[in-house]
Amino acid sequence: MDEAVTQIKRLVETSDELGRRRIMESLHKLAYSMESPEDTRDRYSFLHLQTATVKIGFNLELFKYMASSTKAVSVDEATRKTGGQKELIGRLLRYLSSIGAIDEISAGQYLANRVTRNLAGEAAEAGICHYFGSVSMQYQELPSFLERSGYKEPVDETNTAFHQAWKTPLSPFIWYDSQPRLAKYFNDYMATRSQPQQSWLKVYPVLEEATNLHPERALYVDVGGGIGHQCAQFKDKYPELQGRVILQDLPFAIAEALPTPGVENMVHDVFEPQPIRGAKIYHMRSILHNHPQHKVSQILQNIKAVMAPDSILLVDEMILPEVGVDAVTAAVDLTMLSAFAARERTEAEWRKTFDEAGLELVQARIYNPLTYEGVLDARLHARGTKSQVGNETAWAQ
Ligand SMILES: C[S@@+](CC[C@H](N)C(=O)[O-])C[C@H]1O[C@@H](n2cnc3c(N)ncnc32)[C@H](O)[C@@H]1O
Repeated sequence: MDEAVTQIKRLVETSDELGRRRIMESLHKLAYSMESPEDTRDRYSFLHLQTATVKIGFNLELFKYMASSTKAVSVDEATRKTGGQKELIGRLLRYLSSIGAIDEISAGQYLANRVTRNLAGEAAEAGICHYFGSVSMQYQELPSFLERSGYKEPVDETNTAFHQAWKTPLSPFIWYDSQPRLAKYFNDYMATRSQPQQSWLKVYPVLEEATNLHPERALYVDVGGGIGHQCAQFKDKYPELQGRVILQDLPFAIAEALPTPGVENMVHDVFEPQPIRGAKIYHMRSILHNHPQHKVSQILQNIKAVMAPDSILLVDEMILPEVGVDAVTAAVDLTMLSAFAARERTEAEWRKTFDEAGLELVQARIYNPLTYEGVLDARLHARGTKSQVGNETAWAQ
């Protein structure tokens, strides 16, 4: 066994990120293939408890504390640090070590491991708190919701497992206005969930497409851009490009928007007419996967209505492979279903969505093969579809 572990570790060291992920998937599947019925039962039965105790760890700042310590931490030290009761802290540490979040090195002595250090990072905390705080409630409701709906794919965004869970008629994004703590987790998660270097800017030829614009023309509009990380990255990478850079989102996000020099922060609801006409690039990242098909069509129509003949609509989303979708992506797909009656799409499904909106998918570029994230370049049809902006604007060709 030790020999096999050494070989696998060596293999990981020589693999790239995708290879490392594939090895992990294989090892998980190998472990599952050895499970007894009791193992399988217990693995699923206690999943909720794993997240709950990790959340308690965040509340106590336990992972940050342990990750910053170069030596083992005793139950007494953790008790002093957290201000909890010794017996309780001891039981929590024992459980966290049993699920691999920390290592137990001897009786009552615990050491940070790689998972502890991962949990000490802002991205893990924001994501897990978002899923634990906002999303897990809708997972809990999903079985009864689907049973009541006769196991049909939800299509009504006003009646989803989210609404059933939180007993609200509001859409999740409007509901966040009344949930500042959960909204902060969500915004932080959106801001930290992907590495800045994994972005559409890595693969899209911006300079080929968007130079020599009229300075008053909108160069880049990030529609539903959250608190403005994409705008900041765009400005950072292309400070010399002429044209306006505009962030649009709902009031709760714009209220928290980054004060990036040269970026205009604007409240805009994607279901209202788009106020920025004839922009060179309209960018939407992780927006359409939050809406059912009929709403996606409405959003696309609102942008199409103001596109100039040379405007580019960049839809930045996961582009699912036809087979072999990984567990995280399949989970995100069902999360979209349970919150928004929405879905993730394959390239063929994206093409159909653009076709139905009267837009042409010109090219799809994957920028992160690990997560299937990519940018879909859609344009007005070269022939046939007339721009409604057309020659009204001085800059339109
Ligand atoms: C999944 S987040 C993506 C945020 C950002 N584009 C990113 O990739 O980090 C979806 C965003 O859509 C915004 N949003 C939801 N409904 C909207 C609406 N009706 N109009 C404008 N923005 C909306 C949310 O506030 C949120 O910032």
